[in-house]
This record gives sequence, structure tokens and C-alpha cells, in this order.
Amino acid sequence: MTEAIVKHYSNGEITVIWQPAKCIHSRKCFHGLPNVFNPQARPWVNIQGADTAAIKAQIDQCPSGALSYQLGGTETQTTSAPAPSLTIVQVMPNGPLLVQGTIAVKLADGSESVKEQRCALCRCGASANKPFCDGSHVKAGFVG
Ligand code: SF4
Ligand code: FES
Repeated sequence: MTEAIVKHYSNGEITVIWQPAKCIHSRKCFHGLPNVFNPQARPWVNIQGADTAAIKAQIDQCPSGALSYQLGGTETQTTSAPAPSLTIVQVMPNGPLLVQGTIAVKLADGSESVKEQRCALCRCGASANKPFCDGSHVKAGFVG
């Protein structure tokens, strides 16, 4: 299996971590903070486009965990919004099952994948990264 792409963008206070394979194309980021997140631009994250608090607040809205952040440059502070005490599974119209809360997923090969805080599970069958959503439901025109 090829290694998943992970990109980092830092302003010295916050490091934005971008894992494109997890993006479910909810569009929350670029609707919420277009000066920072612009899919038409390269790189698509402009870390100078807003202050640290605004970037942090927007990333906390990312439902898939494709965007997360580290504060203060230390590996130990990787975080996004705190997970709820009860794990919540939400059906996204025409998209995946959104999971908020830490879960362990037993994979078909017998291994286990622990997903912390949030993840998205494919409902359309088109993901190349099953059982997780990789955003392919948009291209597949999934309705349901
Ligand atoms: S899943 Fe996250 S990164 Fe992808 S479009 Fe939505 S808010 Fe942006
Ligand atoms: S629901 Fe997103 S790829 Fe299937």
C-alpha cells in the first residue's frame, strides 16, 4: 500500500496538518475561511490568511480529520476539537458516516485501525480506502 500524503503548513504558532486521503469534500473549510483554504490555489493552504485562533476554530469544524493542527511546535499537542464523551455516528446526506469519538475499526485483513476523535466511513462503495471515505462519493454521484 502506498504511504498516505501528509502536508504541513506552519506560521510558527500553529502547524496545519493536511491529510488529503481523509477529506470527504464537505467544503466547510473553504466556505468558512476562504482566505486560508482555497482549493484553486497552490499551495491550497495560505497560513498567513488569518490569525492562529481563526485557523484553529475553522479546523475544529473539519468533520473528517483531514485537517488537524499542532500548537507550539510540539508533537504532543496534536489536536482538533475534543471528542464527545458519547461516540456519535452521523449520516452525511449523499456522503459517508461521520464518526465523532475514538473508535477501533477491525479491518478485513484482521488488523485494527484506531481512529481518534473523528473519521468518516464509506457508504457509497466507491472509496479506494475502504472502509474509510476518501471523498470519491462526489465523483461517483452517490445519492442516499
Ligand atoms: S473534510 Fe475537512 S478538509 Fe475536507 S473539505 Fe471538509 S472541512 Fe475541508
Ligand atoms: S462515502 Fe465517501 S467515498 Fe464512499
